[in-house]
Amino acid sequence: MRIESAAKLESYRTSLVESQDPDRQKILVCGGTGCLSNGSMEVAHVFEEELKAQNLKANVDVKMTGCHGFCERGPLVVFLPQGVFYERVGPKQVPDIVKSTLVEGGVFKKNLYKDPNTKKEILSEENIPFYKGQLRWVLRNNGKIDPTNIDEYIAVGGYGALARALSDMTPSEVVEEVEKADLRGRGGGGFPAGRKWRTVIDAEGERKFIICNGDEGDPGAFMDRSIMEGDPHSVIEGMIIGAYAIGTDTGYIYVRMEYPLALKNLKKALDDAREMGFLGKNVLGTDFSFDIEIVRGGGAFVCGESSALMASIMGKVGEPRAKYVRSAEKGLWDLPTNLNNVETWANVPLIIGRGADWFTSVGTDTSKGTKVFSLVGSVKNVGLVEVPMGYTLRQIIYDIGGGILNDRAFKAVQTGGPSGGCIPEKYLDTKVDFDELTKLGSMMGSGGMIVMDDQTCMVDIAKYFINFLVDESCGKCVPCREGLRQMLIILERITSGEGKDGDIELLEDLGGAMTWGSLCALGGSAANPVISTIKYFRDEYEAHIKEKRCPAGVCPDLIEFSIDKDACIGCTRCAKVCPVSAIAGENKKPHTIDKSICIRCRACYEVCPTDAVRIT
Ligand SMILES: Cc1cc2nc3c(=O)[nH]c(=O)nc-3n(C[C@H](O)[C@H](O)[C@H](O)COP(=O)(O)O)c2cc1C
Ligand code: SF4
Ligand code: SF4
Ligand code: FES
Repeated sequence: MRIESAAKLESYRTSLVESQDPDRQKILVCGGTGCLSNGSMEVAHVFEEELKAQNLKANVDVKMTGCHGFCERGPLVVFLPQGVFYERVGPKQVPDIVKSTLVEGGVFKKNLYKDPNTKKEILSEENIPFYKGQLRWVLRNNGKIDPTNIDEYIAVGGYGALARALSDMTPSEVVEEVEKADLRGRGGGGFPAGRKWRTVIDAEGERKFIICNGDEGDPGAFMDRSIMEGDPHSVIEGMIIGAYAIGTDTGYIYVRMEYPLALKNLKKALDDAREMGFLGKNVLGTDFSFDIEIVRGGGAFVCGESSALMASIMGKVGEPRAKYVRSAEKGLWDLPTNLNNVETWANVPLIIGRGADWFTSVGTDTSKGTKVFSLVGSVKNVGLVEVPMGYTLRQIIYDIGGGILNDRAFKAVQTGGPSGGCIPEKYLDTKVDFDELTKLGSMMGSGGMIVMDDQTCMVDIAKYFINFLVDESCGKCVPCREGLRQMLIILERITSGEGKDGDIELLEDLGGAMTWGSLCALGGSAANPVISTIKYFRDEYEAHIKEKRCPAGVCPDLIEFSIDKDACIGCTRCAKVCPVSAIAGENKKPHTIDKSICIRCRACYEVCPTDAVRIT
């Protein structure tokens, strides 16, 4: 069915809403990648079977939704209208859950979320601290609608912003609204989207293009994946509005190679949008035509960089080029091209639908709206969180993240992906926005946030990120290619006890040369993990170099394992897990470690129930 005008869209929406039976109950099963890999498809199937078996099918629907962000607790299931939230649901619990929730009108306690701090069970999603502190604008539909059903998107207001743009606004007014909203790109640099659009509009070219960057190569990040999988129409709608404003008939979505579900849901969404007349010739019955093509990513982190991405779309090797010519002026096939990130595009319908004043009511002076972060590492609540710009690191890590895992001490948080910086405890009250993070030597990046506890060695962490970047540098320019390799050699030397006086200064010099001399921002920001850890944790580097000691007890060449005989209860667990049989001792008697055999794998340390294994 084609929708030929804004008015017809409104009446279609009204008919969808009116056709919904308010008495029908819903079981929402998360169908995001995380929950699917934990068996949520099977869970949904068993719910269907159980409803049939208990004669409840007539009043209850089972629906697969996109990611709720709390993937670590998956598979997640929500009952509506009861609002009951169940975590870690397996097929075996389904009959009990159905019986308790639908037949008896109560809850099945075993699968309720239990607050790790208060130990209390919490019934509904909105009362769980992980969700309570969030402001889910971009993730508004994730976990609520079926992303493969365009009607569900339309029923919650979807494509209304597009209709408004096409019927009530000129292209220029759309750009003005985005400029007024001060929308900054969510993919890394925070460049003002409206200003970029304006450059593309003003650039000469017989054709123009727009692109959505869904490459998301940062390890541990899954913000864009969740949006593309869980609410693909919000990205598509944003792109159509952008295409109208910029004046183009062709767009591309560049999807990371390893995101099969995002690809599938986007393809379905594009087909449905085309069929309903939101894409293709004469969008919504106007004389504006636009379509979108999907391009699979090249499988390298650097392919997310703007010029490498455009090369990759054109079928060339995904290598960056020098930036003396801006891609907004000469991008794809040397024609003006506008590139924005997935989350940036998903914000556009909100701005056009609700207005720039609404959008700017949230955020800091220089960063408006919300930001989605992938909160991972040593926090109790791991997952995707969306908060207003200006929330402090402490609010994100403690209020939403629930604090540090096992109540250990906080040590640092790394923000901004592999080339972000590590921020120490004294800056936990920093308001998170593009500029504040940069001031601290880190960056917003696309929103990765890795929390580290006191058992983290900051030199080892710097080495981990540099190792990643050595593999991902495309090798085109010397400062990045050789600078990263030399940094890795020095860091390996330091963590293996071979560090020399002057190594820290050498790392700083190399970092400076890479920052200023690299062709693209991969090399330009690659030194951040090293420079920020030197800045805030210099004493740790010095302990490794001068005292041949790893204060966090992590670097295998600088530590020794022993057992405190007074604390050991002789439970034998350590001896059982030791892969090289370095631990001896009788049952209920203190054990000992033969240091000449020990390979310092930490297995004994991890299993000891009395913390009798010591690292020195
Ligand atoms: C090495 C490297 C990788 C990048 N990867 C991504 C990515 O995966 N997704 C993304 O949106 N931006 C990525 N960027 C930033 C893009 O180059 C570009 O700035 C961004 O897509 C523009 O969109 P925005 O203005 O909406 O943020 C990367 C940049 C670099 C240097
Ligand atoms: S900075 Fe690194 S990734 Fe970028 S062009 Fe140079 S070698 Fe390639
Ligand atoms: S695991 Fe701990 S308590 Fe048990 S035998 Fe080993 S050192 Fe002793
Ligand atoms: S995939 Fe289910 S919560 Fe993320």
